[in-house]
Amino acid sequence: MEVIIQPDAKAAADLTARLVAKELQDKPRLVLGLATGRTMETVYRRLVEMHRTENLDFSGVATFNLDEYVGLAAENEDSYRYYMKRHFFKHVNLRTVNVHLPDGMAEDLDAECVHYEQAIHDAGGIDLQLLGIGADGHIGFNEPLSALQSRTRVKALTPATIEQNAWHFSVPEKMPRRALTMGVGTILECRRCILLALGETKAGIIAAAVEGPITSMISASALQLHPHCTIIVDEAAASRLRGAEYYRWIFENEPEWQPYRKLMKR
Ligand code: GLP
Repeated sequence: MEVIIQPDAKAAADLTARLVAKELQDKPRLVLGLATGRTMETVYRRLVEMHRTENLDFSGVATFNLDEYVGLAAENEDSYRYYMKRHFFKHVNLRTVNVHLPDGMAEDLDAECVHYEQAIHDAGGIDLQLLGIGADGHIGFNEPLSALQSRTRVKALTPATIEQNAWHFSVPEKMPRRALTMGVGTILECRRCILLALGETKAGIIAAAVEGPITSMISASALQLHPHCTIIVDEAAASRLRGAEYYRWIFENEPEWQPYRKLMKR
C-alpha cells in the first residue's frame, strides 16, 4: 500500500485523475473500475475536463462499476447508472457497449451477479479500480463482515449506510435496502487500485483501514493485501494517520512520483 497526502481535496482529486489518465495513455483499451459517491464527483469532473482540453480518449475503454441498488431502473435518477451518466458517461467518448453496471432490476439477481463476474473476466479483468470508502469502511457496498474472498452478490445495507446515503435520494425513505456489489475478492483481483478519501469525516476510518488490522469488519482493510494499491487523501482525511510523515517523505523523494510532484506544484 502507498499513501499519498495532498494539501486539499482539489489536489487529491486532480492527482487521482492524472493517474487514471496515465494508465489510459499507457493502455488505450484500459478496463476501468468505477465508483460512485460524492468524493468521486471531483475526479469525474477533472477527467471530463481532461477529455475536453487534452483529448483524453475513452473510445477504447471498458468500464465496470462497483455496485448498483436493487430495484432501481437505469432511468431512475437515484440509480448509480444515472449518477454515472450525469457525472461522467454523457460527457466523454465512452462507447455504450463498453459500459457495465450490475443490473439492479434483473429478475434473477444471483444470475446477474454471476453474469457480471463473467463479463469482468471476459474483458480481461480490471486494470485499474477506483474506490471510495464508506463511513463504516465499506468499498463498493461490502458492508462489515463481508467475506474477504466474496464475489459479486446481493448485499443488505447497514442502517448506518442507509443513513449516510439516503439524503441524496429524491424521497429518502425510498432508498433501497439492498444492492448488488462486486465482492472484496473481486476488487482484490484488479491489477491496480486507487482509493480516494476526502475530509475529516473519513480520517478515523482511513486510519483504521490503512494502519489497523485486516478485518472483515472494515472491508477497505483488505486492500492491505493488494500488491498495487494507492490511497490518496487530503490533509483532513490524513489527520489520524500515525505514519503521515513517512508517507509524505516517500511522495517527496521516490523517483516514481517525480512527475506528479511537479504537477502538483504548478
Ligand atoms: C457509496 C458507494 C461506495 C462509496 C461511498 C462513499 O456507499 N457504494 O462505493 O465509496 O458511497 O461515498 P462518499 O464519497 O459520498 O462519501
